[in-house]
Amino acid sequence: MGLLLRSLSMLILLMWFFCLPPLGAQSTSGSSGSPARALDALLQDYAFRAFRHPKTGIPFEGDVPSNLTGIKIAALRLRSGSLYRRGVPMYKELRIPMGVTEQPYVQRLVLVYQNLGNWSVKYYPLPGYTYLTPVLGLLAYSASNLSATDLPELNITATDGPISVQFPDVKSAPVGAVAKCVWFDLRGFHNFSDLASGNICTTIQQGHFSIVVESIAPSPSPISPTPSGGAPNAGPKKKSNSKVGIIVGSVLGGLALLVFLTFLVLWVRKFKHRKKMQQMERAADQGEALHMTTVGSTKAPAATVTRTQPVLESEYAP
Ligand SMILES: *[C@@H]1O[C@H](CO)[C@@H](O)[C@H](O)[C@H]1NC(C)=O
Ligand SMILES: *[C@@H]1O[C@H](CO)[C@@H](O)[C@H](O)[C@H]1NC(C)=O
Ligand SMILES: *[C@@H]1O[C@H](CO)[C@@H](O)[C@H](O)[C@H]1NC(C)=O
Ligand SMILES: *[C@@H]1O[C@H](CO)[C@@H](O)[C@H](O)[C@H]1NC(C)=O
Ligand SMILES: *[C@@H]1O[C@H](CO)[C@@H](O)[C@H](O)[C@H]1NC(C)=O
Repeated sequence: MGLLLRSLSMLILLMWFFCLPPLGAQSTSGSSGSPARALDALLQDYAFRAFRHPKTGIPFEGDVPSNLTGIKIAALRLRSGSLYRRGVPMYKELRIPMGVTEQPYVQRLVLVYQNLGNWSVKYYPLPGYTYLTPVLGLLAYSASNLSATDLPELNITATDGPISVQFPDVKSAPVGAVAKCVWFDLRGFHNFSDLASGNICTTIQQGHFSIVVESIAPSPSPISPTPSGGAPNAGPKKKSNSKVGIIVGSVLGGLALLVFLTFLVLWVRKFKHRKKMQQMERAADQGEALHMTTVGSTKAPAATVTRTQPVLESEYAP
């Protein structure tokens, strides 16, 4: 019985071990939005510092701290009415048409532009996809206090036509793969859409934008064979890697369970067999004595109990 208990607890431990990693991965992936939000706050601060002599309607390039070299920022201060009536024909890679409104309403606002350069993947990881351009950001803030930090973003909405983002240098997509626009909202959710043309994505809201393509070759393991036929709908590789881990874990766990159950069944059968043999031997040794005495002690209720009862065995042991 001790062996059985030990095996059982071992099995439970084993299954627990196999079930834990996916659960842990899920809980950590939920908070992935916060480093990007902290970066937005930091870049707002540094972009606003570009306004030494704030002139309305002219974009100012900002400097980023040295630990973020590779990121480019700019800030453009506008009157709300001017943004709505005229738009901004050219602001870095952005073309803002007329009809853009902000929520909540402010008299003057600042449009902060971000180009995350080689930091794009770090702050906006997108498993299973490869970036063909840096991630660009367009965020709006109230301009009422240009030394304020930790400002909340304004929601901007293009009501007439969409804002377009024209990416200058798009890396070429692998043959057969389809490039898509990706848009990240401020809560960290993303959505894909078709390109408006070769290098233009459109949006009606603030957020972060880039052009991506589904990764075909599995990046972490170069040994495994790559599907040479351009299969554009081959699933996200990093995601499927963790899926493979789960499947392998489940299979191993299942195998362990199967082996354990087989042993259990064999053991129980052997145990039963031995017990039966013992009983038969005892019955043969004592002949009819067992039966006769059972009939004899009709007064005792113990007589109706099965023969394996220890009372009976010790009473009639030779
Ligand atoms: C970079 O440096 C700035 C200012 O020195 C600091 O506030 C920020 O936390 C740093 N960011 C990272 C990602 O190290
Ligand atoms: C991006 O490139 C700069 C140099 O141009 C480097 O200092 C920085 O560490 C790089 N960032 C990342 C995330 O690799
Ligand atoms: C602007 O923001 C800074 C930093 O939060 C604060 O110290 C200052 O008092 C604010 N100025 C006004 C006019 O609200
Ligand atoms: C901005 O939009 C988001 C969702 O689209 C909403 O949750 C949020 O409350 C809005 N913020 C303002 C200031 O309207
Ligand atoms: C993503 O975009 C499609 C098409 O524009 C839309 O139907 C869908 O609701 C969007 N999903 C999210 C999560 O925003």
